[in-house]
Amino acid sequence: MTSEALWAIGRGCGITALGFLTLSLALGIVTRSGRPLPALPRFAVADVHRFTALAGTLLVALHVGLLFADPYAQLRMIDFVVPFLGAYRPLWQGLGTLAVDLLLVVVVSSVLRRHLGLRAFRVVHWTSYALWPIALAHALGNGTDTGQLWFQVFAGGCALAACAALAWRVRSEFTEYACARTAVDA
Ligand code: HEM
Repeated sequence: MTSEALWAIGRGCGITALGFLTLSLALGIVTRSGRPLPALPRFAVADVHRFTALAGTLLVALHVGLLFADPYAQLRMIDFVVPFLGAYRPLWQGLGTLAVDLLLVVVVSSVLRRHLGLRAFRVVHWTSYALWPIALAHALGNGTDTGQLWFQVFAGGCALAACAALAWRVRSEFTEYACARTAVDA
């Protein structure tokens, strides 16, 4: 496969990852509310939230792995862990690295959820609220497709979905039952 093809697939994986992470954020909020969705019972909302998070994480791994082969990005191993050291658009690429660091915190804390306890897990899981806009800023600042209308519509749709979910999250009638606050592991 040519480096041109790897570059295109790597970008595609980044875009799909952003879509899955957006869905996961919104479904995490629905899970926390304790409410079902029209086509999904409560347990299925939580399952799809986990599935979209896992898919997003795997796509991020593919995104950075494939862009490693891109001669323009000039990625080094350190750029996957330490932000803002990159040769190509260090600020915007560094935000991508920061998003990955936060994603790791969310993934590891989710795996260790039973050991952390519900309260500590929830506090750490709030990192997701920071991770999402940082990943979006990285995509807008670093991407080749930022100038394309389809990409702007896609990014706008993601932003709209995330903002709508957040606006609903802060409303007082957010949870279905008061007990949902302790019964659901968001
Ligand atoms: C949560 C983590 C991340 C997400 C969701 C994400 C998503 C995206 C998206 C959507 C684009 C735009 C693609 C396009 O315009 O076609 C992009 C571009 C890019 N990302 Fe990421 N990214 C993440 C992390 C990273 C990391 C850690 C690195 C490297 C250290 C990285 C390197 C790049 C590069 C080099 C580009 C520019 C590709 C190009 O258009 O030439 N990303 N990313």
